[in-house]
Amino acid sequence: MSMIYDERNRLWKLDTPNTSYVLGLVDGRFLAHIYYGAKVTDTDITYILRLNEGWKVPSKQPEEYVSFMSALPMEFPVSGRGDYRESCINIKTEDGQEGLELIYDSYQIYDGKNDLKGLPSSFGDNVQTLEITLKDTIVGVEAVLSYSVFEGSDVIARSVKVKNAGDRIIHLTKLLSSCIELENEGFEVLGFYGSWAREHIMERTRLGHGATVFESIRGEEGHDGQPFIAVMDEKTDEDSGRVYAMQLVYSGSFLAKAKTDARDYARIVIGIQPSGFDWKLEAGEEFQAPEAVLTYSDKGLNKMTHSLHDFCRDHIIRSKHQYDKRPILVNSWEAAYFDFDEKKILSLAKSASDLGIDMLVLDDGWFGKHREEPKASLGDWYCNENKLKGGLEFIGSELKKMGLKFGLWFEPEMISEDSDLYRAHPEWVLHTKGREPARCRDQWVLDLSNPAVIEYLYESMAKIIDAADLAYIKWDMNRPLSDIGSDYLDKDRQGEIMHRHVIGVYELQERLISKFPELLIENCSSGGARFDLGMLYYSPQIWCSDDMDPVERLAIHEGTALLYPLSTIGSHVCKGKNDITGRKVPFKTRGISAMTGTFGYELDLTQISEEDRKAIPSQLKEYRAIQHLVQTGDYYRIASYRTNGRYDAFMNVSKDKKEAYLMYMQVLARPNDKGQRICLKGLDPDMRYEVECEDRKETYKGDVLMNVGFILPCIREDFSAVMIKISAK
Ligand code: DGJ
Repeated sequence: MSMIYDERNRLWKLDTPNTSYVLGLVDGRFLAHIYYGAKVTDTDITYILRLNEGWKVPSKQPEEYVSFMSALPMEFPVSGRGDYRESCINIKTEDGQEGLELIYDSYQIYDGKNDLKGLPSSFGDNVQTLEITLKDTIVGVEAVLSYSVFEGSDVIARSVKVKNAGDRIIHLTKLLSSCIELENEGFEVLGFYGSWAREHIMERTRLGHGATVFESIRGEEGHDGQPFIAVMDEKTDEDSGRVYAMQLVYSGSFLAKAKTDARDYARIVIGIQPSGFDWKLEAGEEFQAPEAVLTYSDKGLNKMTHSLHDFCRDHIIRSKHQYDKRPILVNSWEAAYFDFDEKKILSLAKSASDLGIDMLVLDDGWFGKHREEPKASLGDWYCNENKLKGGLEFIGSELKKMGLKFGLWFEPEMISEDSDLYRAHPEWVLHTKGREPARCRDQWVLDLSNPAVIEYLYESMAKIIDAADLAYIKWDMNRPLSDIGSDYLDKDRQGEIMHRHVIGVYELQERLISKFPELLIENCSSGGARFDLGMLYYSPQIWCSDDMDPVERLAIHEGTALLYPLSTIGSHVCKGKNDITGRKVPFKTRGISAMTGTFGYELDLTQISEEDRKAIPSQLKEYRAIQHLVQTGDYYRIASYRTNGRYDAFMNVSKDKKEAYLMYMQVLARPNDKGQRICLKGLDPDMRYEVECEDRKETYKGDVLMNVGFILPCIREDFSAVMIKISAK
């Protein structure tokens, strides 16, 4: 990795092992985006800006300033001065006027990387950073763009900080984190859609001249979005073709947009959602935008995935448990929902401990006066001792005797109307004047822009974590934000609420981890509505979806694992008849499905059949045998049920290529079928491997497995999965 400034061409070139990113000055003042793609070794490349075609730079042709602004590929586009494409920044002055002209001022390159104040961001030991300062001296705005490259990684981290350098108040009404411009050579766009129980579904569409937008205005990314966008060649597949990807390290409303202009340049941007955003900056104040993570692959989507997974594991997940094998757990939610007492929980725990499970997680329903349904008690973070006699300390000490860790559910950002907290502090609820806030799951959202609310939540959670000696908390968020109004903030700061909510969540998680460094947090938002790099900075795993049906999970997992390492994907074995789809799937398949991420059970272990119970110890053994690969392996997509309609397969291969496993699931059996041939990926062509599949043990050369393939058993059963282990001889 390296960063250079080339004085002759007045450009900066950032190199990662396989990519180059080039930005430079045009007319000595304007920062242009010059190149992003496969590594180049020379800097004489400004010719691709085509500055000698038609329009000229403003110093030579001031009368055509607008033509220049609307054509140059910009590194950090402004609005109001003739660039009519998507801008990255806008402001409003006290005179009510908009528009900026950000002119190059200075740069510095240094070893290391600064944290982003109040926000999660990437980190590393061997990293270099470039900072470029741009200024608008008329309205008094300074923008510092920063770019970091990391040893051994094909990812570039990029962000921007804006300062009010004038002496009057300004309002920042838009600040996106990153922009790249590429010539659209028949590109497609890749993004995500979904809903509750159907999160993170990949979708590719053609990138025409109309805008393709992925966004959220919910205060989190939502079940239907991911703060991510990629453009790629039409022919890009898993192993070949170009992909340019941008992902945001952020957990709130976002905008990711690609649009091609009349000259066939595509501008691709990502950042905080500008709609509803308005941040007041007094003289001298700064605003830090979240970080964007950029990667380029010319070896298709699998290479993009590897770059993103490695970066996430090594430079985003900050938890002490970053590389640890995570505890295998049983979660009480689908085992009991709200209907439990201490006896039921302890008998679930006893079965778990007898079977060799590591942790019991007590989900929703343990707190407040009467949490028998979602209606009541959110905000009252004390144990309901009518339900759990002896309280959490008693449960915790009983679990300890059984050799189990204790995990507990919270939903800190929310409040129920029927709660002591609401009775004491109705003003702590987000609401707009004169209107009852809209209900969702019969709950409201707390105003996290108010420091007193943060303090209350921190104190009440820390007290419980300490008293019950918790090893883990599940942090849930079961509704999006609405009624964006705060009694705490002044009227000219109401546009800050959405972002302040997100930084309030970050502050709370930061404080809890600092106080309890061993605490494992699993974030969750009604399933996977807040699965992003921002949350992964604090919690190394996130509950991926409430939908544990192994068939449904195939597309959910495919989309989630496209961006996030398997070690981050919370997945559990569900009931025999799935509570959401009603589908009945064999226990073995449910087990293999849950082994695609962090592993656990979400069913009443005391009620399952003897046959299933007996299968659990060997299921645990099987998972533990691959768990180190789940944590650190390279993930390869092989076949997608979403696109082929019949079966799904992926592999996970150790970095030294000596160990791997393949998971295969046949959704529906076909009459008169043959055994499926699968060409494996990621192995060493020259190594010999032993392949263990059910009761078969065979040896093959790596190149044979990858090119000739492996023949799976012919399975005459629906919803049937197999796991194949591959190890070097
Ligand atoms: C939604 C989560 O996704 C579930 O796992 C469970 O924790 C419920 N909330 C509890 O209310």
